[in-house]
Amino acid sequence: MQSSDIAARYTFAQQLAREAGEFAHTYFRRLDEITVESKGTQDEVSVADRDTEAFIRQRIGEAFPGDGILGEEGGDDRAGKSVIWVIDPIDGTACFVNAMYTWCVSIAVVIDGAPTIGAVYDPNAKELFHGVAGAHANVSAGAWVNDKPAKVKDVTDFKGGVLGAGFSHRSQPDEFTPFLHRLLSQGGMFYRNGSGALMLCYVAAGRLIGYYEPHINSWDCIAAVAIIQAAGGRCNDFLANDGMTEGNAIVAAGKTLYPQLVGLTGQATL
Ligand code: IPD
Ligand code: CA
Ligand code: CA
Repeated sequence: MQSSDIAARYTFAQQLAREAGEFAHTYFRRLDEITVESKGTQDEVSVADRDTEAFIRQRIGEAFPGDGILGEEGGDDRAGKSVIWVIDPIDGTACFVNAMYTWCVSIAVVIDGAPTIGAVYDPNAKELFHGVAGAHANVSAGAWVNDKPAKVKDVTDFKGGVLGAGFSHRSQPDEFTPFLHRLLSQGGMFYRNGSGALMLCYVAAGRLIGYYEPHINSWDCIAAVAIIQAAGGRCNDFLANDGMTEGNAIVAAGKTLYPQLVGLTGQATL
């Protein structure tokens, strides 16, 4: 793909993440009126998730009708496409529906199998995390929080800051609690705010020193993976073994801490 096409999608993704975040926020301001349904254990969906995804899909379809789209709530229209938008209309739905502020809109563009563009917008903090992985002409290198450069913090051990840790009931508790024990035993500390996308963006911004979750879906994390790479950090090859469809474990950190974090997870396949 030509770099001008990447630049056009990057600009569009940033605008769309902001617009979709403000759209979702109109529902957040009248939570008493919205319908919430259960999808599984500790997994809910609201009319705000569905309407925001429809809004995003319509805008992408108008602007880039030849591109594919994979979204959490609206399905999979990506057969045979090399440019795929991967969207989570609201990441942190449990927070959203319970009137907590840590949720965001996550929009990624995967090009020829590589997480390339990321735009994640937190309408409560008015923060847009964005970046493009890899070097492309016409595109500013690096990652950003609004218009400020974002850089991963590279610490030498777990005492160097706070680590994001995510868990959903797609995983087993036994896959996770030994990890927390090892982290705490090494003088580390964990943070969870209910939005994997936002915590991963905090890694890109140097607020958290890394992130681990034993299973996460592509729409939760691919935008942030592109942003972390653009911010000088390291992630596992999330899309390996059809991570796009099936999800995968996610590990992200600065270059020095990354191998230690992989060791701490106890996952042999990372
Ligand atoms: C979830 C959140 C949560 C993470 C889960 C995700 P949702 O997404 O990102 O932090 O632990 O793996 O499924 O349901 O809020 O869009
Ligand atoms: Ca999500
Ligand atoms: Ca979601």
